[in-house]
Amino acid sequence: MLGLATGSTPLEFYDEMAAMHARKEVDFSEVTTFNLDEYAGLGPDHPQSYARFMREHFFSKVNIAHWRTHIPNGLAADIPAHCAAYELAIVEAGGIDLQLLGIGSDGHIGFNEPGSSLGSRTRLKTLTEGTIRDNARFFDSPAEVPRHVITMGVGTILDARRCLVLAFGKGKAAAVAAMVEGPVTADVPASALQFHPSCSLLVDEAAAAKLKRADYYRWVHANKPDWQRA
Ligand code: F6R
Repeated sequence: MLGLATGSTPLEFYDEMAAMHARKEVDFSEVTTFNLDEYAGLGPDHPQSYARFMREHFFSKVNIAHWRTHIPNGLAADIPAHCAAYELAIVEAGGIDLQLLGIGSDGHIGFNEPGSSLGSRTRLKTLTEGTIRDNARFFDSPAEVPRHVITMGVGTILDARRCLVLAFGKGKAAAVAAMVEGPVTADVPASALQFHPSCSLLVDEAAAAKLKRADYYRWVHANKPDWQRA
């Protein structure tokens, strides 16, 4: 079971998965997915909804059954009940094996903005003005970016068996450094991943630029025992 993210960061990942599927190297027929988040107020056909994003960039390109894909419903009438049902559905489906994550320039994961409880579960969150500005590039204007989202909580994310965080570009460098080397704090929700037993981070040079121990991480990578490279 896969936990999936939207935004610019995972686009290449989805392209690669689709290409591998086209080459018959990967089969999604038995895969179940749960997305991290959705804008409150946007229906699945809204051009900026994450449901539409997932259809366009991934689901339509692989053999995944629609009924196996789950995204919070931005139009849910009873949001707390919908969030509780989303949590239950994850558990009933067996829990997330691999959670794919991007990171916000403010250190959010999912849409758990700074100040989010590190034990939080799926719920309604209010976006920060910074995230609204960051995401305005997908809309005609910042005023059109919804103020609210339904997002898995930090606690929901920590329950995944493995996490893979992707971060590219210099705009993510400060958040990446705070996530990996800063104190664990609700001020940087991604820092909660320091408690995760199996979390990997994949960065480019620009996103790694503020890591104090970058040389050590390269050294670790160069000296990995063979059994760890598989
Ligand atoms: C999206 C999500 C967010 C994004 C983050 C980075 O589902 O959960 O946490 O991963 O806002 O967004 P991009 O990749 O657009 O920089």
